[in-house]
Amino acid sequence: MTPTNARRGAFVSFEGIDGSGKSTQARRLAETLRAAGRDVVLTREPGGSPGAEEIRRLVLEGDPDRWSAETEILLFTAARRDHMERTILPALAAGQVVICDRFADSTRMYQGLSRGDLRGLVDQLHDLMVGREPDLTVLIDMDPETGLTRALSRQGREERFETFGADLQRQMRQGFLDLAAAAPDRVRVIDGARPVEDVTRDVQDLVTTFLAGR
Ligand code: ADP
Ligand code: TYD
Repeated sequence: MTPTNARRGAFVSFEGIDGSGKSTQARRLAETLRAAGRDVVLTREPGGSPGAEEIRRLVLEGDPDRWSAETEILLFTAARRDHMERTILPALAAGQVVICDRFADSTRMYQGLSRGDLRGLVDQLHDLMVGREPDLTVLIDMDPETGLTRALSRQGREERFETFGADLQRQMRQGFLDLAAAAPDRVRVIDGARPVEDVTRDVQDLVTTFLAGR
């Protein structure tokens, strides 16, 4: 029998286009759950383990044509595999809540849509090498123009995917909404085009209700 004080781990991801507010909401959720006494691992992709952070630099910095589309999928999947092995699975086994800023749905959208239709390849590699979805995915939905303005206002070197432009961002927004429609139990949509406090309240209601039901 499970001891009454043992807590079941939970894997929650945040998804959405660049600048939609994922990092802000993931951080706020981690603070709230910690204040409520949960052990929380706040992590991100690409990255989240020492090896995957090294791969992050390879995929996010440098020339946009640095990698072929297929090599890029391999690199994101390799980073994810390492992140699962070293960070996510051990935390879940210890009963912690893992909050991950982006996960495989980002690869389905970015690598699956941006350089031709490679969605099938992304899914195949995921099934082969990762094979697990989050228990809950919070999709922060918003119009790409606002997201892009917000994202570009942050200065940085990690810009390989932020120069995509509004058309592709629009396709990805719709792609994320399609994922939510296809997996409504896992992927829940929250309107991100509102003041940060309003978005936070909805995210926290959603996740605390979800955790209470497990
Ligand atoms: P993402 O991780 O999705 O790219 P961030 O959380 O980094 O998004 O937010 C992008 C920028 O927009 C940041 O400067 C952040 O402070 C700001 N921001 C986040 N949420 C909101 C909001 N609801 N309204 C206005 N600005 C926001
Ligand atoms: P992130 O740091 O979350 O950027 P942002 O805060 O702007 O949303 O992710 C960096 C970039 O990596 C982002 O442009 C999306 C891209 N990305 C992929 O292309 N594929 C992936 O599988 C992941 C996880 C991210």
